[in-house]
Amino acid sequence: MDWVYISDIAAHEGQTVTLKGWLYNKRSSGKLHFLLIRDGTGLIQGVVSRGDVSPETFEAAGALTQESSVIVAGTVRADSRAPGGYELAVTDVKPVQIARDYPISPKEHGVDFLMDHRHLWLRSSRQHAILRIRATVIGAIRGYLDSHGFTLVDSPILTPSACEGTTTLFETTYFDQKAYLSQSGQLYLEAAAMSLGRVYCFGPAFRAEKSKTRRHLIEFWIVEPEAAYFEHEDNLRLQEELVSHTVQTVLRERRHELSVLERDVTKLEKVEPPFPRITYDEALDVLREHGIEKTWGDDFGAPDETLLASLYDKPLFVEKYPARTKAFYMQPDPARPDVALCDDLLAPEGYGEIIGGSQRIHDLALLERRLDEHNLPREAYEWYLDLRRYGSVPHSGFGLGIERTIAWICGLEHVRETIPFPRMLYRLTP
Ligand code: 4AD
Ligand code: MG
Repeated sequence: MDWVYISDIAAHEGQTVTLKGWLYNKRSSGKLHFLLIRDGTGLIQGVVSRGDVSPETFEAAGALTQESSVIVAGTVRADSRAPGGYELAVTDVKPVQIARDYPISPKEHGVDFLMDHRHLWLRSSRQHAILRIRATVIGAIRGYLDSHGFTLVDSPILTPSACEGTTTLFETTYFDQKAYLSQSGQLYLEAAAMSLGRVYCFGPAFRAEKSKTRRHLIEFWIVEPEAAYFEHEDNLRLQEELVSHTVQTVLRERRHELSVLERDVTKLEKVEPPFPRITYDEALDVLREHGIEKTWGDDFGAPDETLLASLYDKPLFVEKYPARTKAFYMQPDPARPDVALCDDLLAPEGYGEIIGGSQRIHDLALLERRLDEHNLPREAYEWYLDLRRYGSVPHSGFGLGIERTIAWICGLEHVRETIPFPRMLYRLTP
């Protein structure tokens, strides 16, 4: 009998098919077992009727426990009351393995318990929906960049020097040298942009952040486009196009998953270019009007970002932050050298920063000065300085954090559910 996937079931109405999956849930009465079966592509209810199957088959169905693996055969019939529109009139049940005492029951569990059982928790409808949206988000981002002239260039994970400040470096040994796990592929992508023009990397980044917040992971995934001859304006335009394309793709392709998550999609439907923009200085004024006093030069915390973003229904660019609070490589605004040509993109609904980007310094002498001001060792950056010695051009790029983007699109409380196996301040397992 034909093995089919639940996602394709509509094409098999009236036929007898085989499904290979797991028991998600079961209800029984004297004469009937209702098996809720999942196979990775969807859920379907199988009805086992005592009158229609052998006594052995009826008993096998009754012995199935939550998450037992099972192969069932049956006839596909349309049923408007069924969640997917179809159910299976079961003719045969073959248990593959009986799961005893599956630890995650339909009752409520605490987050720590669920996180300890992350390897099993992934099977729940909600986690299944998030994982699928994650795959779609990544595919949408890569698809957009691939079809807009950007070449994928992989950056190294083991690096000799810092990109995003020395306080969050994750140190490891590299034979008899010290090495750091990559915080960002940016510096390498700047080199690649001078070869290929428009490039991006997509990979994991590591930051030994001592912060235990709902936005921070120790290991997260980041997509980093970098483009030669792109200036600040070009950079912002690419960001709003990429983010809008990603959100619209998820809306188109993952409606069902968004509904499993009970996401209010009307909020996402508004995400289209152009995005509103305010400068850091304007943001300070807005915060002041709301009773938050900040000194010029202070960075914004999560509550500040939440407040600013809540005033708009689209993602908000905050641009031109004080240069001295930002990374060493950011190009100063020629009209006002104490601010950098940089931006943070703040997602609405309290999700905060999802992108950090900037135009990069292309002048050798200025970049050398900045390295000194940041107490960064010149030797480690000699290769990076070469990019300013040989055919230097203005260029820009940004990093978009995948998990924060997914948390926002899915409407999740915490980034820990957006990545299959989160690495957090107090969690390295499973
Ligand atoms: O703003 P960040 O630190 O920028 C950079 O790393 C630049 N070098 C990127 C570039 O220009 N190529 O980080 C970029 C984004 C943040 O906006 C956030 O979405 C995400 O990376 N991010 C984190 N996500 C989860 N957990 C963390 N600890 C994160 N740190 C940054
Ligand atoms: Mg940032």
